[in-house]
Amino acid sequence: MVVKETFRLHPPVPILPPREAMREFKVGEFDILPKTRILVNVWAIGRDPNGWEKPNEFYPERFEGSRIDFRGLDFNLLPFGAGRRICPGLDTGATNVEFTLANMLYWFHWELPNDMKREDISMEEEVGLACQRRTPLWLVPISNSSQVE
Ligand code: HEM
Repeated sequence: MVVKETFRLHPPVPILPPREAMREFKVGEFDILPKTRILVNVWAIGRDPNGWEKPNEFYPERFEGSRIDFRGLDFNLLPFGAGRRICPGLDTGATNVEFTLANMLYWFHWELPNDMKREDISMEEEVGLACQRRTPLWLVPISNSSQVE
């Protein structure tokens, strides 16, 4: 649920690679002509108040008992895109994120350095090939060594 919520609010690819319309069709009241270049804004879809309650809030529990997934079939959550050009590394990517996060949380307790507060954490992002944090996230890992046995 945490991973889904993070992909919803911070998709690593905020705007999908461009598509080109093969034939004429309508989106809402807009006529899309053949050869129109289409950019799907996954970031905006993930924060659309028509699709999500309290869209800007980080609230992983929203996925509790929900079947919404990021495998390209739920069009309001598309961190890996959808259709023929959907990310072929979906399973590798998602497994790496889940596995790494699960291990970091299992083996360590995490604290903020010095007198830093949660509100002081910058959530600014910058876009290059993919979207990432603008500044590094500094945290203090405290080993849960009692779990070693
Ligand atoms: C969390 C990890 C990842 C995310 C969020 C991600 C996201 C995406 C997105 C949004 C697209 C565009 C899909 C579309 O246009 O519909 C894409 C394409 C692609 N991804 Fe990923 N990806 C991830 C990991 C990976 C990994 C691990 C690999 C390779 C091992 C990979 C290889 C590719 C390739 C080759 C394409 C281009 C596919 C095409 O245009 O036909 N990705 N990815």
